[in-house]
Amino acid sequence: MSTNVGIAGLGVVAQGLLELVRSNADQLNVIAGKNLSVKRLASRRLRDGVDLSEIVFSTDLDDLLNDDELDLVIELIGGTDAAYDLIKATLERGRGVITANKAVLATHGNELLDIAREHDVPLAFEAAVAGGIPIIAALKTRFPANDINWLTGIINGTCIYILTAMAHDGVAFEDALQNAQELGYAEADPTFDVGGMDAAQKLAILVALAFDVPIEIDSVYCEGIQDITIEDIQHADELGYSIKHLAIGRQEEDLVEMRVHPALVPKDNLLAKVNDVENAVQLGTANTGVLRFTGPGAGGHATASSVIADLTNIASGLYRHPGIGGGSIRVRSIGDVSSAFFLNIAAADRPGVIASIGETLARHSISIASMIQKKEEVIRSVDNEIIPVVILTNTVVERELDQALEELESLADIAAPIKKIRVVDLT
Ligand code: HSE
Repeated sequence: MSTNVGIAGLGVVAQGLLELVRSNADQLNVIAGKNLSVKRLASRRLRDGVDLSEIVFSTDLDDLLNDDELDLVIELIGGTDAAYDLIKATLERGRGVITANKAVLATHGNELLDIAREHDVPLAFEAAVAGGIPIIAALKTRFPANDINWLTGIINGTCIYILTAMAHDGVAFEDALQNAQELGYAEADPTFDVGGMDAAQKLAILVALAFDVPIEIDSVYCEGIQDITIEDIQHADELGYSIKHLAIGRQEEDLVEMRVHPALVPKDNLLAKVNDVENAVQLGTANTGVLRFTGPGAGGHATASSVIADLTNIASGLYRHPGIGGGSIRVRSIGDVSSAFFLNIAAADRPGVIASIGETLARHSISIASMIQKKEEVIRSVDNEIIPVVILTNTVVERELDQALEELESLADIAAPIKKIRVVDLT
């Protein structure tokens, strides 16, 4: 008995996959209970130094569809167009698919999973979120008798690399981004990573699995890390927090929160200790407290090992369809979410300014939990010196806070738009 596999793509993950499949062949065949054989690979171009012996190579993805000897196709080309066409056509021909492609799942996942169920073939995607961390397998267990109430994650390696460099080396955002690009951690066009969209796509998939709802990427609130400064990181540090780019999902009754944004995380939490290009996901559960997963979120071998986990599951008959797609989703808008907030208010250094900030916040029932104001941090001097007033608020509904900030920004003593960063307590 054998399982014949076709691979689409020859990038870093595909190369890692070929290496791991070869170097672990005997063990994988034992786990799968049959011979796993990569028969065919289709990619736009060959790569120097990649060993494709005993594999039929072509540049046409349709060759994967037309090869009747293949039992399943591993899609590693990324993007949403050609990948969608390939996955859909493969499933419709009654063959299974493994994909590492969060973008195609975030955009077309509900439809593709329906097609997979209709044709009773696997559509597996362990590698699509958090690279080498087996978070999809964990969520697919459905945690019987142990509901997931919330999840928080650091699921974009580029953002975590940049924030780590800013915090540890005092490197400005632009320089940290350039380093990330030079090291191959960020795409040539990095806006998708630093703007939060990559994390938003992954979150939509995790939330769908965790709460048994459809994948709904358009409802994810999304902010990136472009506006985070070294000063923000230093102020947060003084207050006992690290700044991380977080993905957050929470279910309360029939309302689901889905948001990605920079956030202050208490320094003693696992998420504050995640650095460089590591990923982490925490699950807040009803009966086992907080489950924490960390590991490499990208990289050829790490991501390929998740692909192989799918492969051996399918080949050994252990695959089962995820619960995604059942029911409907009602999303809580960001204005209705409650958090504590970190505020940076550029204010005139004049008697009475702090009092008027406090009064304005108090009118909206917002109290100040901590405050930093340093005379030496002069932003500019015109009539009065302008210095940052950094405030940590109590927990407040965001819509209420926004009203208070609008009023504050209209005061003559407030010199610039107020920076706000959410504080996360789901840890
Ligand atoms: N661009 C992604 C990241 C790669 O930075 O995490 C893995 O999905």
